[in-house]
Amino acid sequence: MKTLPVHLDNPLRKGLIEDRTGDACAVVIFGASGDLTRRKLVPALYNLAVSRFLPSGFAIVGVARREKSDDSFRAEMKEAVSAFSRRQPIDPGVWSDFERGIGYVAGTFESPETYEKLRQHLDRIDAERGTRKSRLFYLAVSPNDFGVIMQRLNAAGLVSPAVTTPGGPFARVIIEKPFGQDLASARALNMAVAETFQEKDVFRIDHYLGKETVQNLLVFRFANSLFEPLWNREHIDHVQITVAEEIGVEGRGKFYEQVGVTRDIVQNHLMQLLCLTAMEPPISLHADAVRDEKVKVLRSLRPMEPHSVQQNVIRGQYARGYVKGEEALGYRDEPNVENDSRVETFVAMRVFVDNWRWGGVPFFVRAGKRLARRVTEIAIQFKQVPHGLFHSPDGGIAPNVLSMRIQPDESIALRFTTKEPGQHTILRNMAMDFHYGAAFGSNTPEAYERLLLDAMRGDATLFTRHDEVEEQWAFVDQVFDAWRKEASIPPPFYPAGSWGPEQADDLIAHSGRRWRKP
Ligand code: BG6
Repeated sequence: MKTLPVHLDNPLRKGLIEDRTGDACAVVIFGASGDLTRRKLVPALYNLAVSRFLPSGFAIVGVARREKSDDSFRAEMKEAVSAFSRRQPIDPGVWSDFERGIGYVAGTFESPETYEKLRQHLDRIDAERGTRKSRLFYLAVSPNDFGVIMQRLNAAGLVSPAVTTPGGPFARVIIEKPFGQDLASARALNMAVAETFQEKDVFRIDHYLGKETVQNLLVFRFANSLFEPLWNREHIDHVQITVAEEIGVEGRGKFYEQVGVTRDIVQNHLMQLLCLTAMEPPISLHADAVRDEKVKVLRSLRPMEPHSVQQNVIRGQYARGYVKGEEALGYRDEPNVENDSRVETFVAMRVFVDNWRWGGVPFFVRAGKRLARRVTEIAIQFKQVPHGLFHSPDGGIAPNVLSMRIQPDESIALRFTTKEPGQHTILRNMAMDFHYGAAFGSNTPEAYERLLLDAMRGDATLFTRHDEVEEQWAFVDQVFDAWRKEASIPPPFYPAGSWGPEQADDLIAHSGRRWRKP
């Protein structure tokens, strides 16, 4: 049976297709033998080919140390797409055209020779594949290699088309996280990037921004008239943002010992969710208009002095326990983790956005590994009704809660109180539920598809700007400064499979509220 193009699978998707083809270019992936290339990047590019979003002039060039031929790199990528593409099986017609555009250049990132070979390769494919001297460099490498790659690209004259004429050849760069490890290193990196690329050509990835449900936050807030008038301190009691994972550090113990959950998740994914929830309506969807508003939120975050870190930030580290019935190691027993490690795998914070809209409304945010279940959610809890007309057997009337489930089981639910049918007035808390899967089908594009296509089109709206990433670091650096002063105190433990340490419950309970159990 012939499969229908995805947009025709479901009647609600009809009419949603738009002309979003990328600009002709060669995507040059540094770190082509890494996991990200296999699991995410090439499967995402293949899926763009299936959806016919790739430009007709298109090629992929993998760059990595190991010697291999174009053919063996193509074969590896075919295996990767068979294993990781959301669409299976591979469409032979799409694949045969797609793979003709895949090539490989072997060499170290330091050696100028690598860049000379790359230049020759690119010149050849410009002629063969119509890539029109436009390049999208993807740095899927360790942050230690960012500087040298950009410097060598520049020296080899590979970025010169950056002096662009509109619609002419371009040179853009996509940079994976982590973008620095604190404010000072992020600034230094921004300066190094600016020596080679103009800011409009720099695409700093936070893959959360590519998620459909995260993009929908803007649509939900600014394409509906119903919620925005309520979206402020007058009506909202508090906001909870949870980024919970069941997985542990998954063999990345060495990396986690350097970062911890605050650098890994809070500084980027969680703060982006906070920004999109709290920002003012942008004047347009232009990249800078949206990012200006996010930066304003970051600048409005109440500063954290060491004493307020003590009061408002709780960290934790997972100990042995059970996640979904399976025994899980404690963090300190994970490979490549010190057995007296003090690195945090959980953090909960109470933060305030000190501006006119949010004055006095606490945002309780938390992120952690090895928690009870995988869930990313934003919950807006509205204020109680001002006068209690009804008696409820279990005490007060439950407040209205709007919960936006980013993943999994992507959905939006609004809880409200209603009367149970019968002679007595018995109140029930019910939900109006919208599920993306049921409405639109579940074959949703992956975050990397959207982000790669946007970068090919030069649209940086879903990427982090230089000042934004610096503000994010400036905020979490205050927390690290305070923690450094108490470096000898280990974070409290929590059993794997729980919702974090008890102290996190106390953090919210002090104000008479409690964490949702999503
Ligand atoms: C990455 C972190 O940025 O995001 C990982 O480095 C984390 O530690 C991952 O597991 C979570 O992403 P997702 O898309 O699975 O929520």
